[in-house]
Amino acid sequence: MSTQTKTIRRTTVPQIAARKGGEPIVSLTSYHAHTAAIVDKYADFILVGDSLGMVMHGMETTVGVPLDLMIMHGKAVVRGTRQALIVVDMPFGTYEESPNMAFRNAAKIMKETGCGAVKLEGGARMAETIRFLTERGIPVMAHIGLTPQSSHVMGGFKTQGRDEETWATHEADAKAVTQAGAFAIVLEGMVEPLAAKITKQIAIPTIGIGASAECDGQILVLEDMLGLNEWTPKFVKVYGDLGPQIEASVKAYAEEVKDRSFPSEDQVYR
Ligand code: KIV
Repeated sequence: MSTQTKTIRRTTVPQIAARKGGEPIVSLTSYHAHTAAIVDKYADFILVGDSLGMVMHGMETTVGVPLDLMIMHGKAVVRGTRQALIVVDMPFGTYEESPNMAFRNAAKIMKETGCGAVKLEGGARMAETIRFLTERGIPVMAHIGLTPQSSHVMGGFKTQGRDEETWATHEADAKAVTQAGAFAIVLEGMVEPLAAKITKQIAIPTIGIGASAECDGQILVLEDMLGLNEWTPKFVKVYGDLGPQIEASVKAYAEEVKDRSFPSEDQVYR
């Protein structure tokens, strides 16, 4: 009997950090083994984002996403991949209370999924926690600007930095998480000049989503760029048209079942 083994050689956290100012870092979200296997061929890291609560589970915001759901999807993505670094989001309520709480939950995510890093939202206010985690062996990707877990406080999903007076706060956030030991930082929903300024000021790679090509890398939600959502935000470029393609396939199947042309000779065991 022979067993099939897949060679697993993943991009490491230091390799991502070393890409600062170099070749742009490619990243997408993925929540399942099959899409992750495709993304794995092209992405430096894959984020199992808590956006899965909205994209896959129909939630209005990411606030309701439970830890167990992140772990379940994280496991699937790790199983489906062998090259990309896998980063799993810490969901709302699992890290903000204290560094100890954050460590317990981040360690659970890493042990149970086999991912290589976690991501959490927040700037200066999360610096102490980021330092606590990184000093104890947990690589952290930070996330500032538009932070969806705080959408209730922000009054919705609003582009950050339109008012230049707010820039100092975002810059201070970026510096604080860098000094605390984050290896990279997501800049979400941020005006281009602010994203460019932050990218020049800090020593770790910035990963933009709605933050312009001035960042050191880019990330998009896979389902957004595949055209699976009814509404597309301005910052998303739609590379595929899967929504209408899936609908056409389902419609054709339904018609063929009804007129008994499926299953046909080719699909029948004789
Ligand atoms: O949850 C997510 O998908 C994210 C990306 C938008 C960066 O955090």
